[in-house]
Amino acid sequence: MLVFSSLQCYTTCMQTIYLSHLHDQAFRAKFHQKQLACDQLVTLTGRTSIPLEGPWRLCPDQYDTCLRAGWYAYTGKETTPVDCDFEFWKEVIVPSVWNTEHEPWEYYEGSMLYRTEFASSQKEGTRTFLVFEGVANRAYVFLNGIYLGFHEGASTPFSVEITASLQDRNTLLVCANNTRSVSSVPSENTDWFNYGGIYRQVHLMQVPPSFIRHWYVRLLDAHTLGIDIELSGIHDSVQVVCKELGLSLLLAVHDHTASVQVPFTGQVWGIENPKRYTFCLQYGQDRVEDTIGLRTIACRGNQILLNEKPIFLRGVCLHEDHPDFGRYVNENLVRRSLEDAKLLGCNCIRLSHYPHHRYMAEIADELGMLLWEELPVYWAIAFSDPAVLADAKNQLSELILRDRNRCSVIIWSVGNENPDTDERLAFMSSLASLARSLDPSRLVGAACLVNEHTLCIQDRLEACLDVIGLNEYYGWYDPDMGKLKILLEHSLKDKPVLITEFGAGAKAGFHDAEAALFSEERQALFYKQQFVLLLGSPTVSGTFPWLLYDFRSPRRMNKYQGGYNRKGLIDQSRRHKKLAYATVQTEYRRFKEQGR
Ligand code: GCU
Repeated sequence: MLVFSSLQCYTTCMQTIYLSHLHDQAFRAKFHQKQLACDQLVTLTGRTSIPLEGPWRLCPDQYDTCLRAGWYAYTGKETTPVDCDFEFWKEVIVPSVWNTEHEPWEYYEGSMLYRTEFASSQKEGTRTFLVFEGVANRAYVFLNGIYLGFHEGASTPFSVEITASLQDRNTLLVCANNTRSVSSVPSENTDWFNYGGIYRQVHLMQVPPSFIRHWYVRLLDAHTLGIDIELSGIHDSVQVVCKELGLSLLLAVHDHTASVQVPFTGQVWGIENPKRYTFCLQYGQDRVEDTIGLRTIACRGNQILLNEKPIFLRGVCLHEDHPDFGRYVNENLVRRSLEDAKLLGCNCIRLSHYPHHRYMAEIADELGMLLWEELPVYWAIAFSDPAVLADAKNQLSELILRDRNRCSVIIWSVGNENPDTDERLAFMSSLASLARSLDPSRLVGAACLVNEHTLCIQDRLEACLDVIGLNEYYGWYDPDMGKLKILLEHSLKDKPVLITEFGAGAKAGFHDAEAALFSEERQALFYKQQFVLLLGSPTVSGTFPWLLYDFRSPRRMNKYQGGYNRKGLIDQSRRHKKLAYATVQTEYRRFKEQGR
């Protein structure tokens, strides 16, 4: 308790305290000491939870005054003047990106304060977690004025236990910051729009004192089912039941884990027959269940094998971007994009260039669609910065923990079109190793580089990968389509090569008999010429046109683009299928009829 000998002394002291935070240039450092990372993540899937969605109060905080001056600690009963007034803030529905919710915020980059209140009753012994499915691009979380921690990464989930901080009435304040930076993942330069906000669901999740933290079910081979469970608590056994497989196992718990391998005689999951089984786990009072498809994925030479049979990936690329909702998606939008891809004749989608909403893999499991999931290690990254590598590893771990029970996911991609330096090789090979250690059952890929002099795929990263991605734009950025033929002849590898991007821009509705640049005719002609070379090449094990829908990108500002990358086969409204859509559809149908 401060005691002042005079008013002058009091005033000086108050000014000193008031001025102190104005001079603190390192204010953010103290918040970064408390990271909410993958080691705190608790699996949401299969649990009931209370969604904290609906109207929250938002306020832009361009100078981070909340973090600097401690607005998060205000109670509204202050006797000295404060510079924020929560009731005055704008009401916005969460989850959403702020860019689409208020015209003046469309291009806002910086910190946005989110505030909501909620009541909570906590049964004796129950443990309560806040679970965030996605906050772009980083989040500082405060509950009842207490700082809970900081999460880096726009596209992966994070959680934090709040058992000790919970009250009957609670105030949750989140500072969401989407400022791009050379030392984030992705860095400051990308070919997509930098949305911001609490754009995926926030949940209040209650679990018993002893609970199931994570669990993983998959085929180790065509005849063996593997189950690994991570637990938090005191019980010495955990039950696993799958009635349809006739499984009822009581597994002993050692050091908070339990594992088992059992023979598998059921039906494998496949694209034509997405068969799934319901697994139920019981650990003390905790019970979770999930519906899981069981399949194998592997490589043999330059072939990809799904359930031990060669499969050609008839793919397409997809961004998470909508003209009305930005990066926010709901189940209907996700289901619609999967149906558009199926209608195109696809059996695989490359989820560019960051983890999409969990709905995507959940619905792909249901519909029978394979997925390439990717970490936003995109273009130039601060590859020599250990903190950036730690960030990338954490995002990869959170993605794998979230989706590893999703059989539709067959490839973890550790990056896209990165410069070939020693630092990049070390950075991405360590990500590839991490992916394999967390999940040996899937393939690891990345979009690799081409030696433009010898016209051959040539990337030191190839040695770390199971599948080699190649993004090529011959016939668009490089007018000489003949180079593609030479490149394919020079690039026959002992691993599958996937053409992970190829595309041309077209403004929907712009038609030109001479197939001028950005006409629909030009885009269709591009694909006709590309598929003649790609679908006949022994080098190629899969093709992924770039991409299904036009998407927003501040780098695309010519008169046809108007702030959109126009390489979509469908325009951003998702209603206008361009001529090239039918071209790709015809080629994929022909290819499928030939049994590839
Ligand atoms: C690159 C990049 C994409 C980009 C595309 C394009 O290959 O991977 O993110 O949008 O080219 O130029 O349209």
